[in-house]
Amino acid sequence: MIPAKYPIGIFDSGVGGLSVLREIRAEMPYEDILYFGDQGHVPYGPRPMKQIQDFSEAISRYLLLQHAKIIVVACNTASAAALRYLRKTFPHVPFVGMEPAVKPAAEKTQTGKVGVLATPATFQGALYASVVERFANGVELFQNTCNGLVQEIERGNLNGDETRRILKNALQPMLAENIDTVVLGCTHYPFVIPLIQEIVGDNVQVINPAPAVARQVKRLVEAGRMANEQGGAIRIITSGESEMVKSSLMVLLGMDAEVETVTWKTDREIAA
Ligand code: DGL
Repeated sequence: MIPAKYPIGIFDSGVGGLSVLREIRAEMPYEDILYFGDQGHVPYGPRPMKQIQDFSEAISRYLLLQHAKIIVVACNTASAAALRYLRKTFPHVPFVGMEPAVKPAAEKTQTGKVGVLATPATFQGALYASVVERFANGVELFQNTCNGLVQEIERGNLNGDETRRILKNALQPMLAENIDTVVLGCTHYPFVIPLIQEIVGDNVQVINPAPAVARQVKRLVEAGRMANEQGGAIRIITSGESEMVKSSLMVLLGMDAEVETVTWKTDREIAA
């Protein structure tokens, strides 16, 4: 039996997973959380699948060494590259991953046209192909990789010229095609929802899957009888610069927290 006091492990290439952490926190305020942001390697999106898989395996091992009772792959890109492999490699560990929310979008759209924003690796992965095959249901999908957007969000640039330019370039051609729904297929993007909504207008619905993912985490924790009713501590770990992550936490979540650092030895190993 896994002790309830053990933390929920969450990881992402950077600050994106904080959009999922925020929802998990709201659902389960008394859970301890251990968050790993791989700022040393961000962005994952343009990297080869095998390398993202190696990073994801090493981070999962690291979180398990710190007693994570469940691991949330709060990154669409890492989920695309590694989720199946992680479940096979660590068969006793419950994993929750991300997939682009094509299913709810296809159910909601009236025009039958949906925009999907995600990274190149997410679009290339078998997970996306399978989601489209199972759920698109004749709905037309317009995809864009928003090159450079993840880096802007890492810098806390949620509303600047470059962020606006990238989003306009992605969204305006989709609007011209008459989309009425946009799927956020990257966990960094919920932090720019106000700007996205400003560009697409009130008649287009923006879908952030993080709340549904948090509810799934809660279901699994409760089903495994691992729910903590006395914790609530958050530990933040980065493979990048702690000061930068500290200021991101303030900008993105209004959270003042200490940030621990780790270093990578190789693509497959984090120094203890
Ligand atoms: N937050 C990420 C995702 O959900 C990764 C972005 C990146 O590192 O390219 O896909």
